Amino acid sequence: MEATTAAPKKRILSCIQPSGIPTLGNYLGALKNWKTLADEFDGAFAVADLHAITVRQEPAQFRKQINDVLALLLAIGLDPDQSILFIQSQVPAHSQLAWILNCYTQFGEMSRMTQFKDKSQSHADNVNVGLFAYPVLMAADILLYQADLVPVGADQKQHLEIARDIAQRFNTLYSPTFTVPEPYIGKQGARVMSLQDPLKKMSKSDPNPKSYISVFDAPDVISKKIKSAVTDSEGSVRFADGKEGINNLMGIYACCTGLTNEQIEADFAGKGYGDFKAAVAEAVIEELRPIRERYERYSNDKAYLKEVAAQGAERASRVANRTLQKVMKKIGFVLP
Ligand code: TYM
Repeated sequence: MEATTAAPKKRILSCIQPSGIPTLGNYLGALKNWKTLADEFDGAFAVADLHAITVRQEPAQFRKQINDVLALLLAIGLDPDQSILFIQSQVPAHSQLAWILNCYTQFGEMSRMTQFKDKSQSHADNVNVGLFAYPVLMAADILLYQADLVPVGADQKQHLEIARDIAQRFNTLYSPTFTVPEPYIGKQGARVMSLQDPLKKMSKSDPNPKSYISVFDAPDVISKKIKSAVTDSEGSVRFADGKEGINNLMGIYACCTGLTNEQIEADFAGKGYGDFKAAVAEAVIEELRPIRERYERYSNDKAYLKEVAAQGAERASRVANRTLQKVMKKIGFVLP
């Protein structure tokens, strides 16, 4: 019989910072897609702890958050035997390639990054060099794994563009070295907005907890937060300019139910915001329930988490070191 060789699967990579409890925005914008794509692609997913120290973290709390986010990756259904699940700081190649890529990135390019501009305003007392060079570390994360696709929320698009620019620049200067990655941004959920100010993105670092739903919020907390979400005075459930609060709730509802905006409008024609908010709350509660339950199990099993991280770091290092060696050789470093 003739042997058939299947085409190698494309690779996807993405990371999440352990800088607080992940929100419904992180879940709908990124994590939910990771789970779907993990079956189709070769996946590598990391807890981006090196990124998180660009703002101050309290050590004991930081350690807990790193473990919690790793437990969350398992709780959303990622399989550590299928995908590579790892903690970024346990794979030294990330820091090593980031330094190298710093030397192939221009000061002017970094100065234009909107997230840097925003964060240097919100952390004006600590505008450190790491915050400035953050997108270069992110480029290193992606390029080390030769990722074809990077599933992220819309807020990361600019960082993806710089990763592509750095890859292309290096490839042109030397010879093809890095895969030039494409962003994967879902049609729905790519930009979940704050429940209190629907012109701002939902963020885990928002000082007002009513503005976001954490993936671990209890059902009654989720109901309360959605009930108090800012809407408008029109009273009809339809997607339109100027109705950002309702548009946001419709987006969340669409992600959790698979319905289109037209179907949602038809289902809620003639009904008020009270009914709609109750339905949104129910859909979010049901979406997050199994994740919260599985998370409780994993987060208490420290030995298992340690084992998953160790196995992930080993597998990740193998892929990452291969790229790093290639890069170092091309630049002219003397390899051991
Ligand atoms: P982070 O930790 O802020 O967020 C993790 C993922 O969640 C998405 N996201 C959202 N999506 C929709 N609506 C929202 N309100 C919302 N808030 C967050 C983010 O777009 C992201 O996909 N720099 C990255 C982490 C990172 C990374 C990487 C990502 C480090 N290295 C390499 C991809 C590839 C960040 O801060 O994500």
